[in-house]
Amino acid sequence: MKTEVLKPTKDAIEKAASLIRRGELVAFPTETVYGLGADATDPAAAAAIYAAKGRASDNPLIVHIAFPEDAENFAYTSPLYYELAERFMPGPLTVILPKKNIIPHEVTGCLDTVAVRCPSNEIAHSLIETSGLPIAAPSANRSGAPSPTNAEDVYSDMDGRIPLILDGGASAIGVESTVIKLDGRSATILRPGAVTAHMLSQICDSVTVAKAVIDPSSVGDAPLSPGMKYKHYAPKAELYLLDGSASMAAEYVMRHKDDRTAVICSDSDSALFGGTILLLTGASGDYQEYEHRLFSLLRRADELNASTIYALLPPLDDNYLAIYNRIIRAAGSKIVKL
Ligand code: TXA
Ligand code: MG
Repeated sequence: MKTEVLKPTKDAIEKAASLIRRGELVAFPTETVYGLGADATDPAAAAAIYAAKGRASDNPLIVHIAFPEDAENFAYTSPLYYELAERFMPGPLTVILPKKNIIPHEVTGCLDTVAVRCPSNEIAHSLIETSGLPIAAPSANRSGAPSPTNAEDVYSDMDGRIPLILDGGASAIGVESTVIKLDGRSATILRPGAVTAHMLSQICDSVTVAKAVIDPSSVGDAPLSPGMKYKHYAPKAELYLLDGSASMAAEYVMRHKDDRTAVICSDSDSALFGGTILLLTGASGDYQEYEHRLFSLLRRADELNASTIYALLPPLDDNYLAIYNRIIRAAGSKIVKL
C-alpha cells in the first residue's frame, strides 16, 4: 500500500474523513501525539488498527469525539464527567466511562468501559466532525516504539501500512493525554499527562495516582489499564536513568562512555557531558519543553545510532510525572543509584 502524506487542507480532511467512513485507517495530528484513527463503531476497522501497530488486542483504544456531549452516543456519562469536560475539554484528558453496545469489544479489548477524549487540535477536531463518527485512535507508532510527535516519525513507522497521514507539524504537547478512571467523585490517574493531579484535584474530591504509574513492576495480571503491562516507548539503544545530581551523573558518564554514548540533559547541564551525543530537553526546570521533546529525542538517539543513552532520573513531582512515567518505561526501569 502506498502511504500518502498530505497537508491538512479542507480537501485533505474530506479525503481523510471519507477513508475513515469506508473503514480505512488515517494518521492525524492531535495536541498530544499523532493518532492512528479508524471508525470506532466498526470492529473490522479496529482490528486493522491492531494489525498496523502490531499491538496486543487486549490493549484498548481511546475513542475521540468532536464535542464532550458526543460521548452520550456510546458511553454512560455522569455529572463529574461534564464538570471535568467544562474545565479540560477539548484538551489532553481521557476519561474512562461505562460503554454502550455500539462500541464493539474489539475497540475496548473486551472491557465494559470505554476511554473518551475530545482533542483540542483543530485538524483532529475537523476530521472527527467531518467524518460524523467517533474515531478510535491509539498513538500512531508501531507497538513498543516512542509515540510519534510529527508526521515524519509516523511515516517511518507506518509507511506501507496505512493509506494517509495528515501532516499538521509538531505536536504541541508531546506526551499522550492524562487517562483517568472515576469512582464517585474521586479520580485515579492511570496514565499521567499534561492535565496534572493538582489540576484534577480542583474538580474531583480526591485524586490518586495508580501505583503502576511510577512503578511498572507493580503491575499484576489484571492491571487497571491494560496498557500498563506492555513494553513502551523504548528506543533501540539501552537507556539508563541516573539517580543523583548532574555533576555525579557527569562523572559516571565520563567513566562509562564510548563514542556512541548519548545523554539526555537540559541546555545548562550540557557543558558537563562533553564528547557525548547531546539530546537537549530545553531550559533546566522547563518540564513542558522536556515533554514536548522527549519522544522525538528518543527517536533521534536511534537515528544517530547511539549505543547507550543516559538521562537523569526525573524528580517524582506532579509536574514531572508524565516524563517520569514515560522515561522509566523507555528505560525498562534500569535505574543507576549514584
Ligand atoms: O494522547 C493520547 O491519548 C493519544 C492521542 C492519539 O489521542 N492516544 C493514545 O492512545 O495515547 P494509546 O492507545 O496509545 O493509549 C491508550 C491508553 C492505553 O494505556 C490503554 O490501556 C488505556 O489508554 N485505555 C484505553 N481504554 C481503556 C479502558 N477502557 N480502561 C482502562 N484503560 C484504558
Ligand atoms: Mg501508545
